[in-house]
Amino acid sequence: MKKALITGVTGQDGSYLAEFLLEKGYEVHGIIRRSSSYNQERLEDILTEEEASVLVNNKNFHLHYGDVTDALNVTRLIGEIQPDEIYNLAAQSHVRVSFDMPGYTLDVDAKGTLNILEAVRILGLTDKTRVYQASTSELFGKVQEVPQKETTPFYPRSPYGVAKIYGFWITKNYRESYNMFAVNGILFNHESERRGETFVTRKITLAAARIAQGKQKKLLLGNLDSLRDWGYAKDYVECMWLILQHEKPEDFVIATGEMHSVREFADLAFKHVGIEIEWIGHGIEEKGINKATGEIVVEVDPKFFRPAEVEQLLGDPTKARTLLGWNPTRTSFEDLVRIMVAADMMKVGNEDIVKKTFDYVI
Ligand code: NAP
Ligand code: GDD
Repeated sequence: MKKALITGVTGQDGSYLAEFLLEKGYEVHGIIRRSSSYNQERLEDILTEEEASVLVNNKNFHLHYGDVTDALNVTRLIGEIQPDEIYNLAAQSHVRVSFDMPGYTLDVDAKGTLNILEAVRILGLTDKTRVYQASTSELFGKVQEVPQKETTPFYPRSPYGVAKIYGFWITKNYRESYNMFAVNGILFNHESERRGETFVTRKITLAAARIAQGKQKKLLLGNLDSLRDWGYAKDYVECMWLILQHEKPEDFVIATGEMHSVREFADLAFKHVGIEIEWIGHGIEEKGINKATGEIVVEVDPKFFRPAEVEQLLGDPTKARTLLGWNPTRTSFEDLVRIMVAADMMKVGNEDIVKKTFDYVI
């Protein structure tokens, strides 16, 4: 039985990956942070009871307290677990927040990656343990080529992107220096019903559901023109695994090859809850009006703009499709929005108390 260690197991990707690997017959170990509030929701509550028993009561699933910034802790855990595969998904993953916490983002996203690679090396596991690093399309930032592929030069635009560049290169450096199977998945944006609520897609689907059910009046957004290559997280975790099963340690771009604007995403999400939007005005004056009622349901608030923006991201998944046999369009953009809205309509329907204000949301 193969053993996998997942850092960031409580996050969107970590929770899907844990399920995926358990189904493949792995013994799965996950690192969770000590928190004063409950942080294992994605590992339990979102699953149906039947599924929950697969994960929570699974004798092959083990959680360990830890933090990737604590080198002693990760070295001990890796030494005890002796994993065949490590998926380093732990990160301060919010781009806007990285402008407020650049130092912390550096500690987790850059130094945290080094701590894991160095632990594998010090423990003499370089021949045994394969390491997957969660790299990102944010590395391309101010894009130097469209679409972006494995050879496109990087130009990060945020403390997050800059910290992740260190993670990318140190992973490649350990591969070249110590002959380790250490690889980067350069993943473009991927979303799901488990997406954190302050990322734009989830912020929109939750708001659309709440507005449709009379529990919220308006959605405040930042840059509506921003373009992203949005895929479905469940499809993307499969690719993480495929990258580690490949015969050669190589880096891969994972994307759908399609790009849509934030405005388009909002349009479609509102359509799914039965609200047709008409967009009027430009720039910070732009508004989304409910055609049926004339009410303003979307407004632009500059506080959601970023000091430096990544205007567009579009990936070229040819290498992953060709060498890994991965299907980049298994879930279409339309299906992704539909899945997320359906889940949030249900969640909001069950909400008794609705938070008074939503504009703290980044
Ligand atoms: P996420 O939902 O924000 O999850 C991040 C995970 O990292 C959480 O489990 C979090 O724990 C954990 N974490 C944060 N700081 C940590 C620390 N110091 N030590 C240990 N664990 C820590 O992110 P995601 O969307 O699943 O993304 C997974 C990874 O892929 C991240 O590295 C992200 O940067 C990268 N990525 C994501 C995308 C995307 O579109 N989703 C695209 C490209 C790359 P808590 O639950 O305790 O906060
Ligand atoms: N979060 C947020 N909130 N973003 C908004 C809003 C808003 O109210 N309004 C517009 N946007 C725009 C952002 O300015 C950005 O251009 C785009 O929507 C997407 O923002 P996010 O959903 O926060 O994601 P991201 O692209 O910045 O980062 C995500 O994808 C990266 C891969 O490209 C994160 O998951 C990163 O961890 C990941 O590496």
